[in-house]
Amino acid sequence: MVPALRARLHRIVGPEHLLEDRDLLPSYETDWTRRFTGSAPFVVRPADTDQVANVVTACRQFRVPLVPQGGNTGLVGGSVPRAGEAVLSLRRLDRIEDFDPVAGEVTAGAGVTLQALQEFVRPRGWDVAVDLASRASATIGGMVATNAGGIRVIRYGPMRHQVIGLEAVLADGAILARLPGLLKDNTGYDLPGLLAGSEGTLAVVTRVRLRLIPARPARAVALLGLPSLAAALHVLQAIRRQAPGLEAAEVFFPEGLELVLRHAGLAPPFPRPHGCYLLVECAGADDPAPALAAALESAADPASTLLAVSRPDRDRLWAYRERHTEAISAEGIPHKLDITVPLARLADFEALVRTRLAAAAPGARPILFGHAGDGNLHVNLLGVAPDDETADDAVLRLVADLGGSISAEHGIGIAKKRWLHLTRSPADISAMRAVKRALDPAGILNPGVIFDLEPPTAADEAAPVPGA
Ligand code: MLT
Ligand code: ZN
Repeated sequence: MVPALRARLHRIVGPEHLLEDRDLLPSYETDWTRRFTGSAPFVVRPADTDQVANVVTACRQFRVPLVPQGGNTGLVGGSVPRAGEAVLSLRRLDRIEDFDPVAGEVTAGAGVTLQALQEFVRPRGWDVAVDLASRASATIGGMVATNAGGIRVIRYGPMRHQVIGLEAVLADGAILARLPGLLKDNTGYDLPGLLAGSEGTLAVVTRVRLRLIPARPARAVALLGLPSLAAALHVLQAIRRQAPGLEAAEVFFPEGLELVLRHAGLAPPFPRPHGCYLLVECAGADDPAPALAAALESAADPASTLLAVSRPDRDRLWAYRERHTEAISAEGIPHKLDITVPLARLADFEALVRTRLAAAAPGARPILFGHAGDGNLHVNLLGVAPDDETADDAVLRLVADLGGSISAEHGIGIAKKRWLHLTRSPADISAMRAVKRALDPAGILNPGVIFDLEPPTAADEAAPVPGA
């Protein structure tokens, strides 16, 4: 780093929050998957919005691109350096402010973890609509920047739907202030909506005003063993119709369950294995268990159904689903694909993807799980070299053939950008490039994420998939 930039950053954040010692950087340089890693010249840790704005201005003047980073729980390589970018860590922006118990709204700094926000609002009778397994580390700023989904999208939608106001630092250092935000505010472009899901490429989110949902402590969880995904989706239809307050509908398969049992040391949920497992959770003001039990009575085999009401029992059932990510990671470094197809095609996808992978990449070991209610499956591939994209290509082309999306909730990052054209038209991609050029003409914010600023040439597009 040039001495003049170092001196400037020292003045802005203090020397202790400019990290250059190589021993301090690894946790900022490698993402959760361990597949994506790079080298940063430094990590800078501002404490508030003004410091973020000053850091962005300084780095732009010295032409040092920045990767904004929250809890670094991303799974698509978008939160770590790739080509010598510095890391702009937002974790110190961890204040919770302006809780409004009447409207059910709160403002959270970008670095507040989801769990910290849950622990703040739940005793006050409210809850955060979005929930996900990495809640202890994932930050609110990162969750908005990536439009995180999680386990309750079926009921409340993803993170973008919860944002009613936002503050962000633009690439020129200007502060976009849409706080506190109003539920009804129809005045021009929805810039917070645009920044949600922009993966740090358009601005650095510093504070967010979120709508909350009433806390619903009365909960019931059921885990069902079923012969197939088609059977699970059939049961889910009945539950959706008959059980009010359905908040989550998740699936996993025997190969994933086997990993979870082995790596997490859990006992099998049922005496015999099943082809597919469906986990559902209902929540309401009143106990949802009787209605859920009634819905299951007509739709599921009691010998392969577990119902849990108390918190420890519910957590025990959720562990079979939520511990998939860590169990897969303990087994190897996976390629993580996060796809969605129309719900009516989900069972076809699950069958076809296994056949296509067996033909195109026989060494790939697919572990599938996900959010069945949203048509969203996580296709994790073990046994594939980090830079071999043959299997990814086969999966993502199948998704496009079935009218789906190559990213349901994790984003494009760098992992999937070469396939963006499969489910986004040339007009769509060129409109996105125009927005990027307008807001970040110098390409200072998370360059190379989602797409490159320069369109690929015909030769780039004709180049073979690495590993093929
Ligand atoms: C999940 O649903 O558990 C997350 O998206 C994480 C993952 O896909 O591994
Ligand atoms: Zn997920």
